[in-house]
Amino acid sequence: MTFGPIELEEVHGAHNYHPLPVMVSHGEGAWVWDDDGNRYLDFLAAYSALNFGHRHPALVSAAKEQLDRLTLTSRAFHHDLLGPFCSELAALAGKEMVLPMNSGAEGVETALKVARRWGHEVKGVPDGHASIVVMDGNFHGRTISIVSFSGDHVAKAHYGPYTPGFRSVPYGDTDALAAAIDETTVAVLVEPVQGEAGVIVPPPGYLHDVRRLCVEHDVLMIADEIQSGLGRTGATFACEHDSVVPDMYILGKALGGGIVPLSAVAANRDVLGVLTPGSHGSTFGGNPIACAVGREVVRLLDTGEPQQRAADLEEPLRQALEKLVGEGVLEVRVHGLWAGIDLDPALGTGRDLCEALARRGVLVKDTHGSSIRLSPPLMISEEDLLWGLDQLAEAVAELG
Ligand SMILES: Cc1ncc(COP(=O)(O)O)c(C=O)c1O
Repeated sequence: MTFGPIELEEVHGAHNYHPLPVMVSHGEGAWVWDDDGNRYLDFLAAYSALNFGHRHPALVSAAKEQLDRLTLTSRAFHHDLLGPFCSELAALAGKEMVLPMNSGAEGVETALKVARRWGHEVKGVPDGHASIVVMDGNFHGRTISIVSFSGDHVAKAHYGPYTPGFRSVPYGDTDALAAAIDETTVAVLVEPVQGEAGVIVPPPGYLHDVRRLCVEHDVLMIADEIQSGLGRTGATFACEHDSVVPDMYILGKALGGGIVPLSAVAANRDVLGVLTPGSHGSTFGGNPIACAVGREVVRLLDTGEPQQRAADLEEPLRQALEKLVGEGVLEVRVHGLWAGIDLDPALGTGRDLCEALARRGVLVKDTHGSSIRLSPPLMISEEDLLWGLDQLAEAVAELG
């Protein structure tokens, strides 16, 4: 008996995900196909990693050219793209320095390490006493330290002993944040919009308050823009909507153009300058292929077109989703081309809705409970977007 790829995955792959039963073998733009030729509209875009769509021609050709020239040096030697990539991404972020890593979680770990080092060496917090304030409902990845301050029981259970030094406060609550900051606090880590929590947008002015409190108490503001950044909300950074500039940006997902894992921390010299040779690193961080793709991503964002596209599609997305409220949907939250949808739990789980959508040719993923999140590629046509939203309305009706 021969096993197909899904059975092989089931038997020989660890079960740390529960994918929808769709086998994607080809992708182009906002669409993917399975081996039987069935076509699906990708309304997830790999959680924003495919902001530019599947196989964007400029990104693919940057990767291919680099594959034919040089793939890896490690950071033991220089290569000709690291400097240009760092300077171009720093310029996009309005910062002086960049440190590229690979996965988003590594980018977050990097920011936490930099903040602790800055706290001990620059702020003068006694060594080993630095504290970092985080937000309830956060999602920053899955390393031991990151799950140590996660409120998600499934992500955290049985991974102790947990890393100390983190305090969690309710998201959007300025008073709670003010009360949590003390002389040991070196950083506040915040998602400008909580993506995995269900696209939760904080109250107006909240990020501004975070910025103010950080300045008042000599604390670094770290914005995890791994999911919210690089165009998704209609701006390069979601923080821009509140005219806030954090001390550190953490970027990932779309930075790798949907081709390579690429994350980065961007900050000024007084912060990132605390790192010295050997104090942090990664063999593949800032490798030539990642830099080639990352430079092209920065070039695409420099045009402002992806950001504008998300801004333009926000209204049609909002209008279509708001029609569903009271018709099987309890609440929708829209920010740019990004939406959280709370299905009435009486109709089913988020997973039920995702399965009904997959049967109608639209791919999405539940966040938790009865919530799903939509994050289509930013280059999707309005026609395709509206078609996908029609399928959503029909899938909700089917469950009702
Ligand atoms: C805000 C945020 N931070 C960090 C991460 C972790 O990124 P990765 O899965 O690449 O480690 C994610 C992933 O969803 C995220 O949404």
